[in-house]
Amino acid sequence: MSSLIQIRFQSTDIDAVATSEGRVAVIVTPDGKLDKAARRANRVTKGAVARLIESKRFEKAKAGQVISLAWPAGMAAEALDVLVLPRRTDATEARKAGVALAKAADGKPLLLMAGSQGKIEELAAGIALRAYSFDAHKTGDEDEAESSDKGDVVIHHSKPDQAEAAFAPLMAVAEGVHMTRDLVNEPANVLTTTEFADRLDEMKALGLEVEVLEEDKLAELGMRTLLSVGQGSDSPSKVVVMQWKGGDKDDAPLALVGKGVVFDTGGISLKPSGGMEDMTMDMGGAGVVAGAMRALALRKAKANVVGLVGLVENMPSGNASRPGDVVRSMKGDTVEIINTDAEGRLVLCDVMWYAQERFQPVGMIDLATLTGAIIVGLGHENAGVFSNNDTFCNAFLKAADAEDEGAWRMPLGKAYDDLLKSRIADMKNVGGRPAGSITAAQFLQRFVKEETPWIHLDIAGVASVKSDTSYAPKGATGWGVRALSRFVQDNFE
Ligand code: BES
Ligand code: MN
Ligand code: ZN
Repeated sequence: MSSLIQIRFQSTDIDAVATSEGRVAVIVTPDGKLDKAARRANRVTKGAVARLIESKRFEKAKAGQVISLAWPAGMAAEALDVLVLPRRTDATEARKAGVALAKAADGKPLLLMAGSQGKIEELAAGIALRAYSFDAHKTGDEDEAESSDKGDVVIHHSKPDQAEAAFAPLMAVAEGVHMTRDLVNEPANVLTTTEFADRLDEMKALGLEVEVLEEDKLAELGMRTLLSVGQGSDSPSKVVVMQWKGGDKDDAPLALVGKGVVFDTGGISLKPSGGMEDMTMDMGGAGVVAGAMRALALRKAKANVVGLVGLVENMPSGNASRPGDVVRSMKGDTVEIINTDAEGRLVLCDVMWYAQERFQPVGMIDLATLTGAIIVGLGHENAGVFSNNDTFCNAFLKAADAEDEGAWRMPLGKAYDDLLKSRIADMKNVGGRPAGSITAAQFLQRFVKEETPWIHLDIAGVASVKSDTSYAPKGATGWGVRALSRFVQDNFE
């Protein structure tokens, strides 16, 4: 696993501007005001900061941007990073400034002279979120590998203890985000269903109760649709249940359910080979559930939350399920498998049913890299949001918005549901090409009890992306961990 950055707060020592090695950052307001540290940097560099402020470059600079001066005279540092930011800022702007600093630092040790900057904990959170790289499988220069993501950050601030306390829960969430990214980035020969379950089991150390349900148990429970997806693979199917009991003993939990297809070949309805390697991320929903549970445990959330993930591999083989097979779900409804590549819903429907039967949750949120169609509809900017309950859904959308994680509500309705009718079984597992993401959601809704407030998040477009996003380098984003943690905090704590 990639190692986590350390961020420490200290009281201000102004001499560090000149003497600190690595990179030194100072803050200048957009209208060109220098604080004490920036003035010191200006003095030791014989006016470099003042000249920067008078330049065209600064005139065009926007809040949250970093302008780097390399090898500044009079300083021991290899770079002086000038962060443009108003003293008073909001959480999102502060986080984005942190992201910009982390990008500029690129893993080098950084000293930020923050003075009495507002929202400093959010700025630090931005650094923590962006300071990530996945190089578990990069060999070569050991020293370089060492330094690539471990450059620690020291922040000098007028109220270091207060900043530290405000930052601790944000760092817990960042740790959850990093866990999700590690899981999603990991190739499928490493992250088998067994390895995935083992990594979740390790979270017992954080105070989570973790159970791993093996195939015999799943068969006993009647999870036949889930087992049908994994039956062509040599890796055993598993369901992992993680319970965080931070709330009142009698409070029913919120349930988070994740699709954990460790690799999706499509099965007998085989996918084309071009781009198939991307299907290592088809466990993204389970990855977010894992990261969210980690975040809740680390920040000791005062709520009851249960995370359930269905871990399977979708492979073609002599034992794989066929198009045309009919299987009976745990709920009892029968499903005609038209396309073995529409496997995520077959996994989720059993886990969702089990979650409701066992826990009678106050609400249920499932996450899945479920359809290519959601990428056609929403691209990589927004996850698709489907729900049977406006109040529950709006509360989630609010949390996602506050965390700057794109989420867009999509419709549900009987006409879409009708597309799932089967000639020989209770339903088909696909509803045709039109509205592919909605018919997938309709399939899931058939396994949601009327009294359960439910949200389905189709994260196929946002779980992993090919270019840098606002908070993550290319690859896994960890989308959803922040929104879920905030959703729990705002509604259940
Ligand atoms: N895992 C895929 C969806 C997916 C596609 C995720 C691209 C991320 C990127 C899912 O299992 C799948 O194959 N869905 C099919 C459904 C179809 C057969 C009804 C799809 O979207 O084509
Ligand atoms: Mn598939
Ligand atoms: Zn899939």
